[in-house]
Formats: sequence, structure tokens, C-alpha cells
Amino acid sequence: PENIGIIALEAYFPRRYVDQEELEKHDGVSAGKYTIGLGQSKMAFCDDREDITSICLTVVQNFMEKHGIDYKEIGRLEVGTETIIDKAKSTKTCLMTLFAESGNYSVEGIDTTNACYGGTSALFNACQWVDSSAWDGRLALVVSGDIAVYATGPARPSGGCGVVCMLVGPNAPLALEFPLRGTYMEHLYDFYKPDLSSEFPTVDGPLSVVSYNKAVDMAYQKYLEKLEQHDGVEKASIDNIDYLVFHSPYTKQVVKGLARMTFNDFVRGSSSPKYESVEEFRSETLETSLTNKLVEKAFIKTSAKDFAAKTEPSLYAARNIGNMYCGSVFFGLASLLTQVSSAELQGKRVALFSYGSGCSASLYSFRVVGSTEEIAAKLNLKKRLDDRIKVDPADFEAIMALREKTHNVKDYEPSGDVSKLYPGTYYLEKVDHMWRRTYGRV
Ligand code: ACO
Repeated sequence: PENIGIIALEAYFPRRYVDQEELEKHDGVSAGKYTIGLGQSKMAFCDDREDITSICLTVVQNFMEKHGIDYKEIGRLEVGTETIIDKAKSTKTCLMTLFAESGNYSVEGIDTTNACYGGTSALFNACQWVDSSAWDGRLALVVSGDIAVYATGPARPSGGCGVVCMLVGPNAPLALEFPLRGTYMEHLYDFYKPDLSSEFPTVDGPLSVVSYNKAVDMAYQKYLEKLEQHDGVEKASIDNIDYLVFHSPYTKQVVKGLARMTFNDFVRGSSSPKYESVEEFRSETLETSLTNKLVEKAFIKTSAKDFAAKTEPSLYAARNIGNMYCGSVFFGLASLLTQVSSAELQGKRVALFSYGSGCSASLYSFRVVGSTEEIAAKLNLKKRLDDRIKVDPADFEAIMALREKTHNVKDYEPSGDVSKLYPGTYYLEKVDHMWRRTYGRV
């Protein structure tokens, strides 16, 4: 099979959001802390009517309906998520309810978990399945996303919620460049979920930020090496990549991610005129510069032009929804396909940087070899983001408190108002005395 990759993509996010400027006022922090400091405008959230299963049911069923695909055509389904409501039963098995009517129970793949990275690993698996002798000619679905919620405090405004469903197979308009992959993994306690009774992570915010930047360095260096090996590029740099899509915990971190790549090019000896104003940092190394704010600021400036051209178009959803953990980098891709026309994307290289705390990271790329017009039209991202319901910060907090109180309780009937959900959304009807969950659809 040729041009294995992403054939189509659907995205789901909750209809309700809280405005970050209003949240700044409500939280009593300085004006600009969330909107400029984190670079966030709006944060999507859900009440007790939605859980990881319901949002995945929604995105998969909506995808199949929009694209007119039969469940019989699917031979593999993988889920990347860190939103865990069961230590044994996977979200994938819950999604099998959607296949029942078609009689197709022969579907490989299962859940993959490590912070925001599971979906990337799931996508690699799906592409590699199609590329292998185990492939039986059917298509694969990769579902990737999370409900990202934090305890009250500085991390709370960096939450969000979203999930994507991607169709993987041959003859895809977004063809994975199989050999071009830079990966970095290390054991770290920067963000983890050891308290199994809580939906909230335990976070060392400052460590997670340094770790993200270090993972950018390491994955980028490896990716460039592969580019030189496989593409015969002489001195690979950011100039060899047309678009750079990042995992976005909040968009300001992505600005820093691209600045970091630019710094890497500089350290690798690039002599582009754009480095004139940063020559004073020639003695800096990747290690010494990692927490150096002067280097960070200078290279944000140096990379501003590249940022506007290569990365900004991919941040539309992230800025308006927030972090979506496993969904984040793919909402970046969805935003890029929304903001840049299919004609303009033809032949271009789109690289994705995926970061999961703990930590696991990969930088990898696609070549655009077909039309993306239909994907963008069916995503309808902008219109759907405009058609949302704003919620007061005080009401948002009450809903967060309700979720916290009722997290994983049994014998429970949610009280959330289903009329606040988009049509076609699945919702939790009840959790019975054996924690069995049943769902309805709006
Ligand atoms: N106007 C403009 N900027 C401001 C203002 C203001 N009024 N107030 C603060 N800022 C800036 C700060 O200068 C800082 O900028 P810098 O990062 O360029 O130095 C930025 O806003 C953040 O403010 P801090 O006080 O440094 O940090 P805070 O205590 O608000 O916490 C953090 C931020 C650590 C990111 C927190 O939100 C968090 O822990 N989030 C979860 C972890 C996370 O997302 N990590 C990222 C990678 S891992 C992952 O994806 C989960």
C-alpha cells in the first residue's frame, strides 16, 4: 500500500466554555495572566453528563455518519487517552457497542496510555498495521483525546476537553513519512495521576515546562538526523519543514517550543542572517540554556516570522478550547487544515510534535499528497466553535465541584442538562450498583 496515513479526521469538543478573561477576574489574578501569560482565550469543559466513553462514542459515531463509512470496513480501532475510569476495561471495548449492528466484532487494537502521548503511539500502530503483512485490507480508526481538568490553583486555567477520530489507511492525503521520526523518552515525575480516586493529576508545573522544552530539543535533533539520512538534506533545519504543529498545553508553550527549535538550529551552526541579533548566545549549549529566560525571549523574537507562517494556523482550536491532552496535537492538525487551503498545502511537509509527561515525545511528519478540502469542510471547526454556550466562572466552578464529588461513584444518575449538548452527542444516563454505565444520545 502507498501513501499510508490520515484519510479523514473528525473532532469533538463540549459545547460549553468559560472565558479566560472572565476567569482571570473571578480568580483574582492579574489581568493578562491566562490570556497573555498562557495565551488562552476560552476553555471548554463538560459536566457530569460526559465521560471519556461518551466523548469517544460521540466522535466515532459522528465521524462515521459524516463520512458515510460502514462499521464493517474497519479492521482496527485504537484509543489514546489518559482519562481513566476503569483500571481493566478499555475505552475501546466500550466503543464496540457502535459496531454491534454491523455484526463486525473482528476489530484489533486497544487503549494506549501515557499522558498526552497515547494517541501518537496509537497512530503509529495503526499506520504500521496497514504497512505490515498482518494487514487484511480494511481501514483503521484512531481515537485520541481527554477530559483535561485540574484542581483549583494555577493549573486549572490550562484545562480543556476534546477528542478526535482519524481514519487511517492507504492512499491518504496526509501520508506519514515513515522513516522521519525523532523520539525521546525518559522517567520523570512532572505530571502523573497516582491518586486513583481523583480525576486530577499531580503536577510539578515548572518541571513539566522544562521537560517539554528538553523533549523538543531531543526529538528535533533526532528528526533532523533522520531527515539528513533519508532525504539527503545537507544541513537540515526548520527550513525543511513547512508547518509545525505542537502539543499545546496552552499556546504560549508552543511559542516557546518553536523558539527552542530555532535555538537548536543556531546551536547546530546555522548561519542564517536571522541570527544576527542573538550572536551573543553563541556560547550557550542545549543544557545551559534550558532555563535561561534571556535565551528564551531572544529566540521567541528570532522565530516570530516562522511562528506566524508555520505554527500559528494550527493553534486556533487550542486557544479556544484549551488542553485536550491526547487530542491536543491532532486538534492542531485539524486547525491547520481549517486555516490553510488545500491548494496551499499540496506537497507540503507537516510535522507534529507530541509530548506526554512522564515523559514520552515524538516529532514526526506527513506529506500532503491529496486534497484536504473535504476534511476541512466536514470538520466545520470554526462554525462549530462559534456555536457554543458561554458559562459564568462561578457556574463553571460549581460544575467542576460536582464532577469532583461524583467522580467514579456508583448508583448515580447525572444531573447535567442534556439540552446544553450539541445534537448528536452521547451522554451518561446512569452508573448502576456495579459501576456499569449506560449512555443515551441527544
Ligand atoms: N500578564 C501577562 N503575562 C503574565 C501575567 C500577566 N498579568 N501574569 C503572569 N504572566 C506570565 C508569566 O510571566 C509567565 O510567563 P513565562 O512563562 O513566559 O515566564 C506565565 O504567565 C505563567 O505564569 P507563572 O506565574 O510562571 O506560572 P503559573 O503559576 O501561572 O503556572 C503553569 C503556569 C505551570 C503552566 C500551570 O498552569 C500548570 O501547572 N499547568 C499544568 C501543567 C502544564 O500544562 N505543563 C505543560 C506541559 S505538560 C502538559 O501538557 C500537561
